[in-house]
Amino acid sequence: SPSRVIFSGIQPTGIPHLGNYVGALQQWVKIQDGATSATDLLFSIVDLHAMTLPYDQARLRLQKRQTLAALLAVGLDPQRSTIFFQSAVPAHTELMWILSCTASVGYLSRMTQWKSKLAMSDNVALSDPDTKAKLKLGLFSYPVLQSADILLYRATHVPVGHDQVQHLEFARENAKNFNTAHGHFFPEPQTVMSPVKRIMSLKDPRVKMSKSHEDMKSRILLNDTPDSIRVKVKAALTDSIDGLSYDPIGRPGVSNLLALMSYLDTSHRSVVQITAECQGLSMRAFKDEVAKTLIKGLTDLRERYDYFMSAAQSQYLQEVVTAGNEKAASKADETMMLVRRMIGV
Ligand code: ADP
Ligand code: NA
Repeated sequence: SPSRVIFSGIQPTGIPHLGNYVGALQQWVKIQDGATSATDLLFSIVDLHAMTLPYDQARLRLQKRQTLAALLAVGLDPQRSTIFFQSAVPAHTELMWILSCTASVGYLSRMTQWKSKLAMSDNVALSDPDTKAKLKLGLFSYPVLQSADILLYRATHVPVGHDQVQHLEFARENAKNFNTAHGHFFPEPQTVMSPVKRIMSLKDPRVKMSKSHEDMKSRILLNDTPDSIRVKVKAALTDSIDGLSYDPIGRPGVSNLLALMSYLDTSHRSVVQITAECQGLSMRAFKDEVAKTLIKGLTDLRERYDYFMSAAQSQYLQEVVTAGNEKAASKADETMMLVRRMIGV
């Protein structure tokens, strides 16, 4: 069996934005390209996680295809990485149930994401009647499904962004709880923290760039046209302080743009270099530079994305994911055969 198993997932909740790209997808590709043959690589489009809030079925189908096209566009290689749809491997939900039987409700209720998804304050209690009415069981328990996603492949390493640290701790907790109840089986997966800081929303740089924000100008998508990038950068919230400086606390908007520039720069300039070069510019001229750099940095990606989304490639996409689904399912079956024996069913 492989010495390292790497698993990560992305929700098919829309075309990936620059936060997903630099915070996750770019890291996945780096890991893939640096991995030896003793490493198993699994990247899942976690469609069951996209059901925790009300959604449109036809739209989900489209978004799954868009996410798959994006994974190929950024450079995941299906010969090397297993790319698959979570829902195509029913063992994810089966293992979720098994882990649910040793998972702690107290731990889950202390996790903050279900509260933020319901736009509630962190100190709201589960016993609050309004919370009870709004909170669906799936939104409360999805971290158990996330644990199952990881443990099903006995993953040893999970690359994630800073927002996912709590979930990884919970996955280790679930592994420990299972191992204590049934005997040692699951490795405790290690967090591989993305070296990239959170990318912030262009419209509100106090919150992270996210697919769930209403305002489309809050994020730049992998396939945004040059015009759309210019419009969004122009509308980005900055400040009226003279000169440029990188100061994420005092000047979050400007700093976010500087960081984005350096992550997307085809000539790999650092934030310090870019800040120095743009020093004398007005905010307006600086934004023109930001747009120029992002447009240049995304051209290749946009073309590759459009290519994989074209009608001519739809059969290829289908073949990629069918092969990935089968590979993932056969690894999952191996785990589940052993797990079923251990739990006595
Ligand atoms: P979203 O939060 O936009 O719905 P997902 O939950 O599908 O995106 O996250 C996919 C991956 O992208 C995760 O590893 C997550 O940590 C990373 N990610 C999401 N938003 C950002 C961001 N603004 N900056 C950096 N990484 C991010
Ligand atoms: Na997220």
